[in-house]
Amino acid sequence: MTASAGLLGDLREKARTRLDPVHWDYFEGGAGEETALAENVRAFARLALLPRVLRGAGPPDLSVRLPGAPSTPPVLVAPTAFHRLAHPDGERATARAAAAAGTVLITSMAATTAVADVTAAAREVDADAAVWFQMYLQPSHGVTRELAARAERAGCSALVVTADSPAFGRRPRDDRNGFHDLPPGYATENMRGLAGAAPGERLPIAMSPALSWADLRRLRAATGLPVWLKGVLHPADARRAADEGVAGVIVSNHGGRQLDAAPAAVEALPAVAEAVGGRIPVLLDGGVRSGADVVTALALGARAVGVGRPVLWGLAAEGEAGVARVLAELTGQTAHVLTLCGARDCSDVGRDQVVVRGPKGVPCR
Ligand code: FNR
Ligand code: LAC
Repeated sequence: MTASAGLLGDLREKARTRLDPVHWDYFEGGAGEETALAENVRAFARLALLPRVLRGAGPPDLSVRLPGAPSTPPVLVAPTAFHRLAHPDGERATARAAAAAGTVLITSMAATTAVADVTAAAREVDADAAVWFQMYLQPSHGVTRELAARAERAGCSALVVTADSPAFGRRPRDDRNGFHDLPPGYATENMRGLAGAAPGERLPIAMSPALSWADLRRLRAATGLPVWLKGVLHPADARRAADEGVAGVIVSNHGGRQLDAAPAAVEALPAVAEAVGGRIPVLLDGGVRSGADVVTALALGARAVGVGRPVLWGLAAEGEAGVARVLAELTGQTAHVLTLCGARDCSDVGRDQVVVRGPKGVPCR
């Protein structure tokens, strides 16, 4: 993947030197030829922003409203697994940094810290911190329901169902390194104590191609929380999600870790935004490495974006302080780019302002 410039690039290099190379490969790598992974970044590089002038916008208001988060900056922490492999403080450190930044943390079902401990860490910093719980629908509806109920009891304000994983992606780096499970001393803590597991034991995280909209509907009926759908790329699925009454969709190719033939997330975004037609909010993750990337996604119809690997770089490099630096950098850059584009707030940039780079500067329609 293209190295990121500036602070993010520095943290990435620091993370690389600190991490066990096998864990670095797990965090950094993708599926197959890593085409989708690389394309996420390259696609942003192919796009440029057309600024507007003399709009009297003033300093931009960075706050966005989302189901499950009354006010957040437009850069959310995407769900990623195994934070304790990046840093001993793990998900607690990430939670504290996200809470201090006032941003939503989406904690993973595959976290190495139980969701209640993640929300507690966030609440120590800010009593109103928004933490969402990402989950894979489990073949046993009872297990799915129990996980959702736990997240709700822990104080999560939304659920995020990841739908792009009917099977686990094939990742050559992990195959080469023989990395298929957590080392001793680390565990997927959310999977403990569920029905069907022996006392003190954990259930494996199941991925199943048999799941359908009916399973999602069952979860929605069983929870009081807003439910987001993550991993949507096809506009027809986005339309269906809106018809079903899902809280919102997250356009994502899972950071290039699932279907390697998938397009870059930002290339799928305009059609999804159009299909949804403003009925539900659209988020995007994948390849966001700068404020310009954030603003490009906002202009193409995203309400906010998520970042995965940059947060892991900050965490591995400097723990909580590193995550805080990543979030502050991306948010600060976003404010600056909005200002330079003449925008009042995150919704004040339009599709007409995104052009494909090259001599013709073709509008991105
Ligand atoms: C992920 N992602 C992910 N997604 C999810 O829904 N549940 C998960 O447990 C994980 N785990 C995970 C681990 C690691 C190491 C990575 C890099 C990613 C995908 C993640 O939410 C997001 O879609 C991508 O990371 C976004 O791409 P960038 O920002 O990493 O380019
Ligand atoms: C991953 C899984 C855990 O991408 O979502 O590694």
